[in-house]
Amino acid sequence: MSLQKVIIDTDPGVDDAAAILMALASPEIDLLGLSVVAGNVPLSDAVANACKVVDLSGRDDVPVYAGAPGPLVRDQVFGKYARIGPFGHDFVTDGNIMPAGGHAVDFIVCTAREAAASGEKVTICAIGPLTNIALALMQHPDVARGIGQIVSMGGAFAALGHRTPWAEFNVYADPHAAEIVYRSGVPVVVMPLDMTFQALFTQRHFERFAEQGGPAGAALFKLFTTFDRSDVDRFGRPGGPIHDATTIAWLIRPDLFKSRKATVGVQVTGFTKGYTYADFHQKMNLAAKATIVTDVDEEGFINLMVERISRYGRVAPPDAQSLGG
Ligand code: RIB
Ligand code: CA
Repeated sequence: MSLQKVIIDTDPGVDDAAAILMALASPEIDLLGLSVVAGNVPLSDAVANACKVVDLSGRDDVPVYAGAPGPLVRDQVFGKYARIGPFGHDFVTDGNIMPAGGHAVDFIVCTAREAAASGEKVTICAIGPLTNIALALMQHPDVARGIGQIVSMGGAFAALGHRTPWAEFNVYADPHAAEIVYRSGVPVVVMPLDMTFQALFTQRHFERFAEQGGPAGAALFKLFTTFDRSDVDRFGRPGGPIHDATTIAWLIRPDLFKSRKATVGVQVTGFTKGYTYADFHQKMNLAAKATIVTDVDEEGFINLMVERISRYGRVAPPDAQSLGG
């Protein structure tokens, strides 16, 4: 698999932290930078958390850009774990990474234009509300030519929502942005709750992070054991999802997933705003431009996640060269 140029747009966020660390431990991915958006927590906390995670990875070459402080139109809502705010010192020590100058939207625009010029398109892993990406596409439509795909953790189709009974959080937090991105014409891969709920990480998996993953694994162990995401009533068994990491696994091991083409859309206003719908059979005579990822190999995904985090347990701090081994 050739090296993939990737931007992660993120609202860290406990599962965002796992996704970012997984990406930085994966030699298949050339992570060009993080564009940060308000979502799980307010923007300032999300930026601070993103800087801490990059510092934890040892990859101080990866820039962190602050982006949109809130949604395009609707009132602002935060994540279920918003009280986390900035990751505490006992979870992730304060590092030395500071955010880069400039706005995240400008970073996305410049990177996409360079990608278009070079002919090597960039992938955007969108693991928070889609505000930054929607702004980039609205303000500078030409950037679509430099974006190969937007892999978006979000939406719920056959599954019920979890932020409301009908809406997944990333879409709920900025439904207008989601609609703009889904209709942009850029190839979108939607990774909904339908799929992320199939892979549940248990205490034993988090212990493997801690046993094998060095300081990064220890931090994830603390974060995931403190902010318990399990829900036996909902899932019928122990464990909880690490939603955002599925986007990274999709890039590394697409064979672990099943997907279908569909037309997708979003309810942007009213009581059911954030509700996502899919037309898998072109009943509306609209082109099925989106890819919806419907299934994941739970064991394969979990083992991949644990294996990549374990690379931080090697003696030398991981970097693109050493991780290739
Ligand atoms: O619904 C799950 C998504 O919302 C994840 O990206 C999580 O980090 C939150 O942003
Ligand atoms: Ca997220």
